[in-house]
Amino acid sequence: MKAQLSRRDWFKSSLALTAGLTLSPMFVDKLFAGPVSAAERFQWGINPYSANGNIRLNANENPYGPSEKVKQAIIENMHESNRYPFQALSELKKMIADKEGVDTDHIHMGAGSGEILCEAGVAFGLDNGEILSGFPTFTEMMDYAKVFNAKWDKVNLNDKLEFDYGAMASRVNSKTKLVFICNPNNPTGTLVDPSIVSPFCQDISKKTLVYSDEAYLEFLEPEMQKRVSNIELVKKGMNVVVSRTFSKIHGLAGLRIGYIVAKPDLIKKISQYQMGIPISQHAIAAAKASLGDNEFMTLSRTKNTEARGHLEGYLKQKGFSYGKSHTNFMFFLAPKEGKAILSGMQQKNILMRIWDYKNKEWCRVSIGTLDEMKQFTQAFDEVIA
Ligand SMILES: Cc1ncc(COP(=O)(O)O)c(C=O)c1O
Repeated sequence: MKAQLSRRDWFKSSLALTAGLTLSPMFVDKLFAGPVSAAERFQWGINPYSANGNIRLNANENPYGPSEKVKQAIIENMHESNRYPFQALSELKKMIADKEGVDTDHIHMGAGSGEILCEAGVAFGLDNGEILSGFPTFTEMMDYAKVFNAKWDKVNLNDKLEFDYGAMASRVNSKTKLVFICNPNNPTGTLVDPSIVSPFCQDISKKTLVYSDEAYLEFLEPEMQKRVSNIELVKKGMNVVVSRTFSKIHGLAGLRIGYIVAKPDLIKKISQYQMGIPISQHAIAAAKASLGDNEFMTLSRTKNTEARGHLEGYLKQKGFSYGKSHTNFMFFLAPKEGKAILSGMQQKNILMRIWDYKNKEWCRVSIGTLDEMKQFTQAFDEVIA
C-alpha cells in the first residue's frame, strides 16, 4: 500500500464499506457498538434487542438529556434546515476554541467523537501502522484502523482495572504510530491520577502521537476536570490530541457531534479523512446551546453520582469485584454465566453489556436514573439467584 491513502482511495474504500463489499455483516456489527463477548454474540444472535420500552443501561447515555435549553434551540433552528451549516459550524468552532483557550485551527469537529477516532485510526494506522492502547478500552479507533491493515497492540489493565501507564510506556517502540489513552476509561470507569498520566503523555509524545480520549471527563467535579484533562499539553504544542464529545454529559448522543483539540498539522492530517460535512444544523444548534448550560451539566453530574452510589452500594453489599467508577457506568465481575445474565435481564426489559477479559466475564452497566438503578439491582438479584 502507498505511504498515504489518497482521498480517491479513501472514497473508494468508503463506498465499498457502504455497499457492504469489503465488510461482512459481523464486522459491521463489531464496529458499531457490536458484541464484545461470546455471551453477547450468542444472546443478540438468538434474540436481538430493541431499544424500545427497555431500560437502556447498555450505551452510557445520559438519561436526563437533552436539556430544555437544547430542545428549544433545536426548535428555533428548524427553519435553517434548508441551509448548509458552514456558517453555524464556524461559529460553534469559535465557541469551542474560546472555551478551550486555543485558536480555531486547533479544532476539528465530527459527527460524534467516534467519527474522528475512525479518521485518526486511518491517518495513523495505514500501512501496518501500530496503535497501542490499554485493554479493555473503547475500541472504535482500533477496530476501524484494522480495516486499513493497522496493527493493534494491547496492554492489559492493572489489578485495579486502570490503564497501566508503566507497562504501556515500555511497550512503545519505533513502529508505534499512535498511543490511545482513555481517562476515565470505558468500559471500566476507572481514573488514573494526572500525576501519572501527564508525565506519561509528555514523555511518550516526544516519540509518537498520544490520543487522549476524554469522553467522560465532565462527570468529574470541575476542579478535577481541569487537573485531569490533557488540554494544557496541546496548548504547549505537544504531539497530543484531546478528544471530547457532546454525547455524554451533554446528553446529545442521538444528534452525533464531538470534537478534537490538537495543533494544526495534526488537525489537517486527521481531518483529511472526513467524508464531506457530516454535522447537521440541528446538532450544531444543540451543541451551541449546551456549551453554556452549566446548570444541566451540574444536574446530570449530581444525579449520576447519586444513582451510581446506589449501584456501588449494591455491589459492595454483594461482595462483587468492581472498578472504582468516575463515570456514568460501572464494570464488575459477572457473578453468573454472562449468557444467563443477558437473557435474564433482557426478559426483564433491562439492557446491559457483558465483556470478555482475562478469561472471565464482566458486566458493564450504565447509570440510569435512581429509579432505573433500583429496578436494575432488584432484577439483577433475581436473575443471579
Ligand atoms: C471513551 C469513548 N470515546 C468515544 C465515544 C464515542 O462517542 P460519540 O461518537 O458518541 O462521541 C464513546 C462512546 O461511548 C466512548 O465511550
